[in-house]
Amino acid sequence: MTNTCIKSTPDKAEYINQMFNMIAPKYDLLNLLMTFGMHYKWKEDAIKLGLKEFQSPKNALDVCTGTGDLAILLKKYSPETEVTCIDNSKNMIELAEKKFNNLKLKNISLITKDFEASTFKQESFNFISIGFGLRNLINKEKSTERIFNLLNKNGVFVCIDLGYPTNKFWQSIYFTYFFNTIPKLGEVIAKNKDAYTYLPNSLKTWLKQEELKSLLLKTGFKKCYFKNIFGGIVAIHIAVK
Ligand SMILES: C[S@@+](CC[C@H](N)C(=O)[O-])C[C@H]1O[C@@H](n2cnc3c(N)ncnc32)[C@H](O)[C@@H]1O
Repeated sequence: MTNTCIKSTPDKAEYINQMFNMIAPKYDLLNLLMTFGMHYKWKEDAIKLGLKEFQSPKNALDVCTGTGDLAILLKKYSPETEVTCIDNSKNMIELAEKKFNNLKLKNISLITKDFEASTFKQESFNFISIGFGLRNLINKEKSTERIFNLLNKNGVFVCIDLGYPTNKFWQSIYFTYFFNTIPKLGEVIAKNKDAYTYLPNSLKTWLKQEELKSLLLKTGFKKCYFKNIFGGIVAIHIAVK
């Protein structure tokens, strides 16, 4: 694998897939640096919040699993849950597999596939999580609908992703860091400025916390709320079918 820049391609899905394959070896390190080590705690909060709504789910799906953090946390707090992980980046999946093996996790499986083209049986999961992934999916409405259909009645959807800080002062500090520092970090650490320019740019078209909540309620979830983290730079949405 090389760290060359991503070639411009008309296919956004293919572009995103290439990008994650390229940055995979440095993904965990960059997450650690970019969030000053806080991302794992945020993910832990997301899983714990979801499990408050549905304790010890029999089976769960982690969408856009990446290197597997959310799945690992789910196994930590609900060891009996059978977890399926899906991601279309082969290199991310390989790293997740290594982590699962090192931790000797049982009843956890990995699928390398585009979630938007997946064919899981309807109503077959009690718990679905997605971490920093929905923003990258091409059709967010169809994907939330897909997630809704895959859940059983009373099933829980946990989404953790970037948010928009409400405080204008905090927002300006954050945007300066996000749009200037992060691409530089990506250039130095992952040797890939393109990918870490895509990251802040993806925020420009991403839903605000209230908008995502509205989308989830419109999709059919009977209950939805969100918790802002770090002044709203990250948000956890919990939705119950
Ligand atoms: C920002 S990473 C998040 C990884 C992990 N969930 C985390 O919280 O650290 C986004 C992940 O979504 C995956 N992804 C993007 N589009 C996808 C798709 N259509 N189907 C499956 N996975 C996808 C990428 O390969 C990448 O691993």
